[in-house]
Amino acid sequence: MKKFVVVLAAGKGTRMKSKLYKVLHPVCGKPMVEHVVDAAQAIAPDQVVTVVGNGADDVKRVLQGKSKFVLQEKQLGTGDAVLTTQSELADKTGATLVITGDTPLFTSQTLQKLFDYHQKKGNAATVLTAQAPDPYGYGRIIRDEQDNVLRIVEQKDGNSDELKVKEINTGVFCFDNEQLFAALKKVNNDNAQGEYYLTDVLEILRNEGQRVGAYKMHDFSESLGVNDRKALAQATKIMQKRINEEHMQNGVSFVDPDTAYIDASVKIACDTTIEANVVIKGTTEIGSNCLITSGSRITNSKIGDAVTITSSTLEEAEMADHTDIGPNSHLRPQAIICSGAHIGNFVEIKNATIGTNSKVGHLTYIGDATLGSGVNVGCGTIFANFDGVKKDHTNVGDCAFIGSGATLVAPVNVADHAFVAADSTITKDVGRHELAIARGRQVNKPDYWQKLALSKSTDWQ
Ligand code: UD1
Ligand code: CA
Repeated sequence: MKKFVVVLAAGKGTRMKSKLYKVLHPVCGKPMVEHVVDAAQAIAPDQVVTVVGNGADDVKRVLQGKSKFVLQEKQLGTGDAVLTTQSELADKTGATLVITGDTPLFTSQTLQKLFDYHQKKGNAATVLTAQAPDPYGYGRIIRDEQDNVLRIVEQKDGNSDELKVKEINTGVFCFDNEQLFAALKKVNNDNAQGEYYLTDVLEILRNEGQRVGAYKMHDFSESLGVNDRKALAQATKIMQKRINEEHMQNGVSFVDPDTAYIDASVKIACDTTIEANVVIKGTTEIGSNCLITSGSRITNSKIGDAVTITSSTLEEAEMADHTDIGPNSHLRPQAIICSGAHIGNFVEIKNATIGTNSKVGHLTYIGDATLGSGVNVGCGTIFANFDGVKKDHTNVGDCAFIGSGATLVAPVNVADHAFVAADSTITKDVGRHELAIARGRQVNKPDYWQKLALSKSTDWQ
């Protein structure tokens, strides 16, 4: 039997109070709707169709290559949203799973179980339900005395008895595709919100004598629908736990997994240790045997094996094997630290390559530069890369020695095995094996104390 998936993602999400469309709000770095589509893709459907409306172009960009799209011009309700997919699906035979784009926690295993149950029962419609500790805001599942599902009642339409029900509509359904579209045409908007509810399809089919059922999942938290910021934070917490548990299963150690905030897309190899209060985002990849200490924030960076990152910030940077950084240093975009290099504390590096086994120990800024291997950069060095209008590049050759407090004014080249004396301001190239000294000469004035004493009162000795 063919499997189709419809994802509803046209709503604005007024309750989020946001300029960003609801389904694009990220949970652990990935837009909610992308979590939904990825879980749906994992059950290998023949086709996925996403209903877009508000923010259609942005939603399409996020889901490019993972889904087809139909446009719902006006958001007239979830029933109307599914009906807009008829151009893609109405004439097809098979089963259609409908899922809302604001439920990011569903796993593919749960979706598969719903599908299997639906098929086994030979239902026309099966709703995925859960027992909610606080059902407020969800549609309630209304059953008869024999436990048969009669209908779904929305929060705004329910009477006080109906609203006491804690079994909720998770927003996920399986339908016989042809019956779904036939029933959708019969849905009206005679309800408190004046919307065409998808949930009404169940009652319509049941009244026509079709088999309608419910598959109840055990873990309510997986069905969490995100309508506001509070639920977004809850969803993020649950997703974070899942992500960290998966890393632990893969051999990553966490000192306190509750305070390690790791995006869904991050990759970490085994025997790496993540301390408390660490944030790792985006496309970051971390090798094995690394230590990431408290207070580190790493975004879109590539980290090799046996790297130590101590309370530092990395953005779009690379650290090769056996390197270290910190505490309190900052790698900005295109900082590349080659193997064996050491970056100490209070160092900022931007668009610069630090060669193999080079050392930049303390209080230094390196911007727009290429450093060879075995270079030693003394404390307090500044690579002056900006003349107020444009940026220029500095080259430092292999095994060069840059004394403490030097300023290298770009563009300038310091050759292999060259020396720069401490506190020099370098504006001219330094040749191989040369020592450059560019600072005021020291002058020592004799008998200075006596001169001062003469001008003071006699008791100043
Ligand atoms: C919906 C269900 C409710 C269920 C809950 C589960 C209905 C009528 N209600 O309520 O029973 O308990 O989900 O989370 O179905 N959308 C469109 N077009 C529209 C309207 C909505 O694409 O015209 C999309 C939204 O973008 C959203 C999803 O459908 O992703 C659900 O809409 P939402 O308004 O959040 O429905 P709920 O009130 O949460
Ligand atoms: Ca919702």
